[in-house]
Amino acid sequence: MSRKILVTGASGLLGSHVLAVLSAKNDVVGWTHSSDRAPLHRLDATNARQVDQFFRTHKPEICVHCIASPDVLACERDPDMADRLNAQTTEHVARACTESGAKLVYISTEYVFDGTAVDGYTEDSQPRPLQTYGRTKLRGEEHAAQVPHHLTVRLPVLYGGPVQDRKPTWIESLLRSLEQGVPVELDDHFERQPTWSYDVATVLARAIDQDLEGILHVATQEGLTKFAWGVKLAEAAGLPSSLVRPSTAPPESSGPRKPARPWLHTHRLQQLGIPPPPGVSERVAAYLRSLGRERKVQTS
Ligand SMILES: NC(=O)c1ccc[n+]([C@@H]2O[C@H](COP(=O)([O-])OP(=O)(O)OC[C@H]3O[C@@H](n4cnc5c(N)ncnc54)[C@H](OP(=O)(O)O)[C@@H]3O)[C@@H](O)[C@H]2O)c1
Repeated sequence: MSRKILVTGASGLLGSHVLAVLSAKNDVVGWTHSSDRAPLHRLDATNARQVDQFFRTHKPEICVHCIASPDVLACERDPDMADRLNAQTTEHVARACTESGAKLVYISTEYVFDGTAVDGYTEDSQPRPLQTYGRTKLRGEEHAAQVPHHLTVRLPVLYGGPVQDRKPTWIESLLRSLEQGVPVELDDHFERQPTWSYDVATVLARAIDQDLEGILHVATQEGLTKFAWGVKLAEAAGLPSSLVRPSTAPPESSGPRKPARPWLHTHRLQQLGIPPPPGVSERVAAYLRSLGRERKVQTS
């Protein structure tokens, strides 16, 4: 069944994939902010009037809210900005959804957890964020929960891109350094669940099709440190993996506190018959192909 869906943050790492995947079966409109990318609608979601006006004019049935500042360090340095983008924009779309009867799909993060639970976290686990990013995303969850029909989707660290008009991602910088023979040190302390934003969008489309509500974790069940992830990228790209080295700096030597292991379990997803997204090991070749970086084959 085709539905009228609004994707906010449609120019971002996740939103651009969500827009593309949902557009296959639905009537989808998207928002952008700093960049002019027709046919996306350009507006400032921190401005409640602009949000309300859009909902009155376009009457979306579902809003997938992908606007945020996912930069943990930037959020710590500028808590007002973090609150505006992570909490306030959600408050505005949540109110517009409630008033118009639309469903809100709010995108959240594993950073709402402190990462101390050895067994990881289910949808029922108690959030306890350690830094501004997690606290403002949790406030976003609270606003989303006020909407009669809502789904909050918590995600782990994502990869994707490149995103137009943005500085290169750490993956592009890594590959470039390795091509130039420059060694790169990466963290080998924090285990994460790196998940391709394209695969998240595919799972989201199924969750929307099934009209899921409440809280849902969407994350690969393959755990990797950034170092192990970098080695896999180097090997798949045919670049010297010996140049990828574990960081010698002690963890937490700078920046905001990070959750040690905020592992997202996906039991609910699996109970619904939806497999969790595959991990880096399975997807690295396809991901590199999507960047136009096929493995270099040595010829003699
Ligand atoms: N990236 C990750 O590793 C990760 C991990 C877990 C969860 N998440 C969550 O996933 C969601 C998407 O994150 P992302 O990485 O895709 O973010 P992103 O690439 O930084 O994209 C953010 C989007 O928000 C838009 N935006 C910013 N300020 C706006 C404003 N005032 N009004 C309207 N739109 C505005 C941006 O538009 P312009 O580009 O046009 O300015 C962009 O489309 C977020 O909820 C994030 O918390 C991300």
